Amino acid sequence: MKDFWNQRYAEQGYAYGDKPNAFLAAQKDQLQPGMRVLAVGDGEGRNGVWLAQQKCQVTCVDYSEQGVRKTKALAAANGVRVDAQCHDLTEWQWPQGEFDRVVSIFLHFPPNVRAAMHQAMLKALKPGGVIILEAFTPEQLNYKSGGPPVVEMLYTPEMLAEDFAGGEILFQEQCVTFLEEGVYHHGDGAVVRMLIRRP
Ligand SMILES: C[S@@+](CC[C@H](N)C(=O)[O-])C[C@H]1O[C@@H](n2cnc3c(N)ncnc32)[C@H](O)[C@@H]1O
Repeated sequence: MKDFWNQRYAEQGYAYGDKPNAFLAAQKDQLQPGMRVLAVGDGEGRNGVWLAQQKCQVTCVDYSEQGVRKTKALAAANGVRVDAQCHDLTEWQWPQGEFDRVVSIFLHFPPNVRAAMHQAMLKALKPGGVIILEAFTPEQLNYKSGGPPVVEMLYTPEMLAEDFAGGEILFQEQCVTFLEEGVYHHGDGAVVRMLIRRP
């Protein structure tokens, strides 16, 4: 899969655009200057760079070298700093209790690691920290606006509620939204959105 993402990000331009995800941008009230934010599977950095523009201290992690390269370029072009790191999250030594926010936008794991990765996100938070997540649901297979093409990689709200056991669900929504995120996320998309707080 890493090769797939490297190939996609080697293309000209930004695959999902250079503007933040709309659900994340709508959570601006969740952010304060100086907060430590971890953006996982951040791709080419559109969300990490926007978070840095909100004056957060941002760490972006993605396993695509091309993605990390473009994240650094986007940060430089916008005059902000992000700590862009290249790791496979399934093999990463996840930090524990360090972040105020974890941002996971359209990061889809296979079933054998999904719950463990979601628990790692929860544990990466300080007590009181919040995960901001958006992902595609199985209904997305009816649409042509992007996302994994197999049901195993898609998430239901129930599945996520179980994965984040121990976290407090502050918000959960399942909806069809119009995506305008570069050439690869365009059109109606079936998504689940969540805010999960570490008690
Ligand atoms: C659909 S893209 C979303 C990128 C970004 N979050 C955004 O919204 O623009 C999914 C990203 O997850 C990354 N990814 C998937 N599995 C990963 C893993 N095991 N470790 C690190 N990154 C991963 C891919 O490289 C890709 O950049």
